[in-house]
Amino acid sequence: MARKQTLILVCLFSVVSPLSWAAWCFEMPTSSFPKGFHNGGIASCDVCHVKKVQPIFSTTSSAAAVVPGTELQQGLLNGMDPSSICLRCHSAPVGQRQPFGIFIATSKEDLAAGLSPVQLTPAGDFGWLLKTFKWSSKGNNVNDESSPGDSHGHNIVARDYGFNPDMTNALAPGGTYPADRLSCSSCHDPHGTYRRSANGSVSLNGLPIKSSGSYSTSPNPDSAGTVGTYRMLAGAGYQPAALKGDFAFTADPPAALSPPDYNRAETRFDTRVAYGSGMSEWCRNCHVTTHKDAHPMGNTGLLTTEVIRIYNGYRGSGSTTGSKDSAFNSLVPYEMGTRDYDILSVIANSNGSDRSGPKNGSTVMCLSCHRAHASGWDHMTRWNVRSGMIVDQGAFVGSDSKSAMSVAAAQGRLAAETARAYYDRTSDAFVSKQRSMCSKCHAKD
Ligand code: HEC
Ligand code: HEC
Ligand code: HEC
Ligand code: HEC
Ligand code: HEC
Ligand code: HEC
Repeated sequence: MARKQTLILVCLFSVVSPLSWAAWCFEMPTSSFPKGFHNGGIASCDVCHVKKVQPIFSTTSSAAAVVPGTELQQGLLNGMDPSSICLRCHSAPVGQRQPFGIFIATSKEDLAAGLSPVQLTPAGDFGWLLKTFKWSSKGNNVNDESSPGDSHGHNIVARDYGFNPDMTNALAPGGTYPADRLSCSSCHDPHGTYRRSANGSVSLNGLPIKSSGSYSTSPNPDSAGTVGTYRMLAGAGYQPAALKGDFAFTADPPAALSPPDYNRAETRFDTRVAYGSGMSEWCRNCHVTTHKDAHPMGNTGLLTTEVIRIYNGYRGSGSTTGSKDSAFNSLVPYEMGTRDYDILSVIANSNGSDRSGPKNGSTVMCLSCHRAHASGWDHMTRWNVRSGMIVDQGAFVGSDSKSAMSVAAAQGRLAAETARAYYDRTSDAFVSKQRSMCSKCHAKD
């Protein structure tokens, strides 16, 4: 696509003038879509589909009302597989060394040994799937342990970009969704058909979608129009047309709002998505029985008074002098237990404007412990649950550390890779000996 090539050319060209490259590369993607692309709903057919079709729209302009052309039913998409189409715009071009906008995957060319994925969106960079870490449990040079790339997230199949099906899970754990059919459009409706109305309900049909509904700055739905669901996530009844069998979703997308500036290092301020409710129920569309009875979560995962007290006081392992006004940590988000978008839009921010901690009614959810796309750790957890150690003697654990304990805890990651997996926080965002973030709610250590 012209846009991507231009972007790369501009970036290469600007190597000559290093000062201008950032400005150029950063401006390109937005200026290519000054009016957005999906805007919460359906975008131009021919960008994703090979043949220009003449769709017959109903007045609602929803894909559901489109009469499919035969060539579309045969899946003539502009790419090898459905996810590769999305990645034409959503994968960062080669050489993109800064987080930017809608990029949710670092290109495989930029992931040589020692290089970490660079995109820092809330869902996490799919590039972590391409990073396997190996280390020695005995501290010699014989690697007998590993953290395989495919355990770091949802293995979307996008062969043009080097993403293959998961090697371990044939099905979604706790469910039946086939792993070799997992794509962007397993979770996101590529046609953005689901919409949120003024009364808060989510539906397939109804008033036309006037805008994205994902941001704290998105307009409210009203009598003139609806907005797209959070991140165009698919709702009840959804299943990609090409997937045979019964995998239709039963739960609608969650209520949540993101700040508009969401792909950024969290060095100074956290990126705070305001999660309202329904995320766990939505994940259960595919993970029906995962962790059943193992840990409370979702609508039944109310934070107890004691857990709220611990979260609000916790500053780091052994330190409980925090305050509820500055307690929030995006490594351990929770749901606020609300579908009130006026509340969510005030809370979502990336400039530290609201760092308040949980209150009565807040709940633990899947994304309290996991990311949605990928992370630097096994099972896509937000911190390394397997090693449990984040910072040792004031520095991120790293295989390049002088301390044997730090090397062991790093599990094959350089200190810089550990830092990146914690979204480029500095080690002093933690205490000098920081253990697992489970303690943000439990303070066990
Ligand atoms: C952002 C990319 C994108 C855009 C824009 C897009 N489509 Fe699609 N479309 C897809 C993908 C991906 C699939 C395959 C989904 C699957 O089965 O995995 C698909 C499948 C289809 C299908 C067959 C399956 C079904 O859902 O009925 C039809 C028909 C279709 N698209 C029509 C359209 C029309 C008409 C437009 C424009 C109004 C359009 N699409 C715009 C990505 C897109
Ligand atoms: C032609 C480039 C292009 C393609 C192809 C494309 N996107 Fe996008 N996408 C964008 C742009 C630009 C934005 C930000 C502006 C907007 O939302 O309209 C975006 C935003 C998004 C968002 C956030 C939207 C919101 O309202 O929160 C999601 C989710 C997304 N895309 C998913 C997909 C999926 C899934 C596919 C493939 C089926 C896809 N995109 C294909 C350009 C593209
Ligand atoms: C459309 C179905 C679908 C939805 C919705 C879905 N998942 Fe998955 N998930 C899968 C499949 C299929 C796998 C197995 C393939 C893989 O691991 O890449 C999987 C694997 C996982 C894994 C294990 C990763 C590993 O390799 O150990 C975790 C953790 C996970 N999902 C969490 C979530 C969370 C959290 C959500 C909600 C934000 C969610 N899933 C929503 C289909 C889904
Ligand atoms: C298993 C379900 C699932 C799959 C598969 C998936 N997404 Fe997402 N995506 C989500 C969820 C859930 C969020 C919201 C995460 C949050 O706010 O914490 C999200 C967020 C996003 C965003 C907004 C940025 C961010 O990180 O929050 C974009 C853009 C996006 N997805 C595009 C894609 C593309 C492109 C693909 C395929 C390459 C894809 N997604 C595959 C579930 C999924
Ligand atoms: C309190 C933290 C926490 C919450 C909340 C949580 N998980 Fe997990 N999850 C973990 C940990 C830790 C692991 C890895 C160890 C294990 O298998 O128990 C894991 C593992 C997984 C796996 C991989 C299991 C396998 O057999 O490979 C899946 C899938 C998964 N979680 C999905 C979910 C979904 C979906 C939700 C929400 C409905 C969720 N998790 C909520 C902490 C959590
Ligand atoms: C967002 C807050 C939160 C996070 C993060 C969290 N928990 Fe919990 N956990 C709770 C709540 C709330 C309960 C239920 C009330 C209680 O038992 O204190 C709970 C209960 C538990 C229980 C008792 C389960 C039962 O059924 O009695 C265990 C064990 C546990 N958590 C372990 C963990 C581990 C391990 C992690 C990290 C992987 C973790 N938790 C992360 C909030 C959290």
